[in-house]
Amino acid sequence: VRPYLFLVAAGVVLVLRLVLVRLRVGGTLDATPLLFARAPLNAVRFALRRAVGWRRGAPVHPNEDKAELFAFASDPAERARLEARERELREAYDLTALRERSSCEVYRENLYVLDLLDRHVGQALRERRAPAVRAVDVGSKDFRYAFALERFLRHASESERKVSLVGVEIDGHVVYSDLHSRADHGEAYARETGNPDVTYWVGDFLRRSDGDLDVVFFFFPFVLRYALVRWGLPGEHFAPEKLFAHARALLRPGGLLVVVNHTHEERDRQLAILAATGFEVIASAAAESALVDYAANVAERSITVART
Ligand SMILES: C[S@@+](CC[C@H](N)C(=O)[O-])C[C@H]1O[C@@H](n2cnc3c(N)ncnc32)[C@H](O)[C@@H]1O
Repeated sequence: VRPYLFLVAAGVVLVLRLVLVRLRVGGTLDATPLLFARAPLNAVRFALRRAVGWRRGAPVHPNEDKAELFAFASDPAERARLEARERELREAYDLTALRERSSCEVYRENLYVLDLLDRHVGQALRERRAPAVRAVDVGSKDFRYAFALERFLRHASESERKVSLVGVEIDGHVVYSDLHSRADHGEAYARETGNPDVTYWVGDFLRRSDGDLDVVFFFFPFVLRYALVRWGLPGEHFAPEKLFAHARALLRPGGLLVVVNHTHEERDRQLAILAATGFEVIASAAAESALVDYAANVAERSITVART
């Protein structure tokens, strides 16, 4: 009987998967209730990752030639514009070391982050006239954009600042296809900034007690429950109001919160949360940048800057 039961179970899973794909592709029905069937499995897998705490040591991040960095832009005039913007950002934010030691994908990702920060947060950070800044990035994944954050904090000012930055990630023990964990990569990207005060920390942001922060970054926080479940986290970690209230408590008076959201639905929820947690929103705009090859697929992204 057992092999038959197994076949039936496999068949049910397959049909459910096909239904999910069909719903997603068709886009006519909301597949969210089916997605929530994953929640208990998320809890087991997350607990296992935490218990194992897989580490394999420092990975070697490959370098790639940057001559074809913007080969995805077929229009020569557009390509020239992207190259000019890359040069501008590289000179303003001292990106040569990253350019000489990164894959094209990681370099473009850092350019994307810097392009957004430079245009939407630069002015607000320049107004902070202090020789040092302290910042936290919440939900850093593998922290591949650590270089951009560090250089932005360091150079968006009259004169170069001292920077301390922590990348915080609750699910740091995810194992990648190279058998290195997220934390292995996170620590390596932090080290590659060349600043010993840039670190990667595995744990819940709600447990951090860093006070007097100048900036808290959130790139794609979970403000809608289904996004967290789809990412693979257990439902108990869905706590956006608590996370933003905590960020507010850790920021110094007048400190900055920078949030990037994926969709208009997330942005609207985000703005409601910020209002409820007492932030003053100073800017909210489309997070557009043509420096990445996937820009056309993320047209709804937005960036919001708020103050305590
Ligand atoms: C959508 S991902 C964004 C990753 C990254 N910021 C990026 O732009 O690629 C959100 C991340 O936040 C992490 N996260 C969620 N809740 C967290 C918490 N309470 N403390 C720390 N990290 C958290 C998740 O594990 C996930 O890696």
